[in-house]
Amino acid sequence: TNVCFTEILVILAVSTETVTTCVDYNNPHYLECENGVINVKSVFYGRTNKVICSEGRPPHQLSNTECSQPGTVNFVKDRCNGRKSCEISLNDIINPDPCYGIYKYLQTNFTCVPAVHLIACEHSYAHLTCGQGEAIFVLGANYGRQDRNICYVSRPPNQVQNVYCSNPTQIVAQRCSWERNCTIYASNLIFGDPCPGTFKYLELSYVCLNPLAG
Ligand SMILES: *[C@@H]1O[C@H](CO)[C@@H](O)[C@H](O)[C@H]1NC(C)=O
Ligand SMILES: *[C@@H]1O[C@H](CO)[C@@H](O)[C@H](O)[C@H]1NC(C)=O
Repeated sequence: TNVCFTEILVILAVSTETVTTCVDYNNPHYLECENGVINVKSVFYGRTNKVICSEGRPPHQLSNTECSQPGTVNFVKDRCNGRKSCEISLNDIINPDPCYGIYKYLQTNFTCVPAVHLIACEHSYAHLTCGQGEAIFVLGANYGRQDRNICYVSRPPNQVQNVYCSNPTQIVAQRCSWERNCTIYASNLIFGDPCPGTFKYLELSYVCLNPLAG
């Protein structure tokens, strides 16, 4: 099914967008799709040329152009795939330092995939539905919390302040993919509890496919 997933994303992808953030602790790396949801293609953290993020920097901070930190892509994918927007704090990716003393940047290439984007607060239901002759295909799902301003109404601050509860799950895909409609309960009973004490939500995205087309 992995091959299938990749092919579907290729078919739906519209154009690639690039976001580059010079490493500055006040400067978050922010990805956003006006239409559809984020699908991260590639991520780079380090420095491979002398031009990007060079303004106002002394030459010795630009001298190493073979500096990169491996593994960054998985972190960004976990935080961003299937969402409408996401923010990566540079504090999350700067360690270990791949080239001490060099001024670095974080660059992400991603596409915006047209998809239905749903959020169900903990203890409520997400309803996925497609038209006649179509089938649900789940692109991504997360049960946890990555944003303070979602599912926060009448919740005490200590239940919404942990935005590092990233918990990608395959359960929605297992239950809903290839169905025409599907209802799933956003609850610890279904997904386990990735962050006790935090009020969570299920965030997911899916597309409707016509299995007979193409
Ligand atoms: C993003 O795409 C541009 C243009 O194709 C390319 O030059 C750059 O290396 C890519 N960046 C990453 C992180 O793959
Ligand atoms: C959901 O799908 C089933 C058959 O797959 C159908 O009988 C039912 O009416 C559908 N419900 C909605 C709300 O579309």
